[in-house]
Amino acid sequence: MATFKTLGQFIIEKQADFPYAKGELSRLLRDIGIAAKVVNREVNKAGLVDILGDAGQVNVQGEGQKKLDVYADEQFIRALQSGGECCVVASEEHELPVDIDWEFSKNAKYIVCIDPLDGSSNIDVNVSVGTIFSIYRRDSLGGKPTMEDILQKGSKQVAAGYIVYGSSTMLVYTTGKGVNGFTLDPSIGEFCLSHPCMKVPTKGHIYSINEGNYRKFSSGVKKYIKYCEEEDASTNRPYTSRYIGSLVADIHRNLLLGGIFIYPATFTHPNGKLRLMYECNPIAFIIEQAGGKATDGRQRILDIEPKTLHQRSACFMGSLEMVEKVEEFLLAED
Ligand code: AHG
Ligand code: MN
Ligand code: MN
Ligand code: MN
Repeated sequence: MATFKTLGQFIIEKQADFPYAKGELSRLLRDIGIAAKVVNREVNKAGLVDILGDAGQVNVQGEGQKKLDVYADEQFIRALQSGGECCVVASEEHELPVDIDWEFSKNAKYIVCIDPLDGSSNIDVNVSVGTIFSIYRRDSLGGKPTMEDILQKGSKQVAAGYIVYGSSTMLVYTTGKGVNGFTLDPSIGEFCLSHPCMKVPTKGHIYSINEGNYRKFSSGVKKYIKYCEEEDASTNRPYTSRYIGSLVADIHRNLLLGGIFIYPATFTHPNGKLRLMYECNPIAFIIEQAGGKATDGRQRILDIEPKTLHQRSACFMGSLEMVEKVEEFLLAED
């Protein structure tokens, strides 16, 4: 009989990689896994229950919230609140950090930044959406966590992951010792290890960028797109263009097949669109752990000093050689 390993079993086994770990991070990851299953259930029956469409509020980014954005946000926060390992949550859907019941969590060590539902524009049309999370250890001791505790560089993440609610639902995460992927087996309600030790191919063949913004791109980005489209047998070009519009789904495909995901700065959005703390950083951590590269065009994403919770960053991430190539074009920019 084929053997399988559940996410819970895997997390407990991996605790041995951290000799001083007391199991708190493991419990936190397990709580995120449970909330993911609850959100997955709702995403799966989205057309049948009254969960599609707008929630009628606007978040701090000025985006209209969808009902599923709000639902996923509530589920993850509830799971983190009742788990007792997380002292504060920063979410895309809240302007300010969300306090956790302080009496209950006063010894909690971990900070979670989360994009509860990624790919909002795809919710109503039955296209893959996701969740992205990033975990830090708090540096200060005692008292309520401060903004400084939260605003750490991506290189200080202790874990990060995403869930893709796709044709099957997968959870992919890293604790800085490689990347592992788990597929939800709906018949037993467990995430099971299906993609151990994920590596992004060094040479990719897919480029993912919203070309509708082409006129607003810098000359370097425009030239790189032209490079992708040109014919050249020695480098296997032209490359294939694929863009879903859900960061998680675009990254997941490129991680498996090899490719580059680009959301550049534009003349109208000088810092790009994606948010550093809960989109760029966690994905950059995973991509690097899988052997790829993630940059904002000038520096490694994980080295950016965050200034505000919802700040944005340009990003170029994926297969090592593809990211290095786009960097050449950016360097030579006129
Ligand atoms: P979110 O749904 O969490 O607000 O994120 C949307 C993001 C991301 O998922 C995606 O890569 C990007 O927006 C797509 O933006 P464009 O529609 O501008 O291409
Ligand atoms: Mn949004
Ligand atoms: Mn998002
Ligand atoms: Mn979102």
